[in-house]
Amino acid sequence: MKKAVCPGSFDPITNGHLDVIERASHLFDEVVIAVLVNNSKSSLFTIEERIVLARDCVKHLPNVKVDMWSGLLVDYCRENKVDAIVKGLRAVSDFDYELQMAQMNLQLKGVDTLLMATKPAYSFLSSSLVREIARYGGDVSKLVPAGVLSELIRKAKDSSSPSSQSGRS
Ligand code: PNS
Repeated sequence: MKKAVCPGSFDPITNGHLDVIERASHLFDEVVIAVLVNNSKSSLFTIEERIVLARDCVKHLPNVKVDMWSGLLVDYCRENKVDAIVKGLRAVSDFDYELQMAQMNLQLKGVDTLLMATKPAYSFLSSSLVREIARYGGDVSKLVPAGVLSELIRKAKDSSSPSSQSGRS
């Protein structure tokens, strides 16, 4: 029984993440999406919202679960008997950072990382760009699952409503 973890902030989960998760689910018996808490990074979605959104878009994948973790990823891997970390590699620009983390995680607790090439169609896609485009009312419907799209639209509306503007009541 081989188990992989796909870690990330998932703020929010995108079609690029889903592509990697789906393909990992064909290679491993079990895949866990680990939504990592990072208190030094400000986020659009709360950890609970990110978990709900991730669960919703993998409900068709019976061997994929969603979990959360606050702390070192290698400790999650050891506590949960994870065999490998799977991360998506969009472009050469991702490589240095991903290699550094993979080697650090290997050195820390002997946890292996598999870097999976994303589909070229998603090589430009990131959660941060999705958040920015959605904030200004741009179309991200081809970039995120339907459940994420509706939550992004709701957040954008909420933040532009008069009651959310500072200085107004
Ligand atoms: O989606 P992100 O923000 O690019 O994901 C980065 C993430 C969460 C996978 C990475 O920051 C991480 O593993 N954080 C957990 C803390 C940790 O283990 N840090 C040491 C990494 S070598």
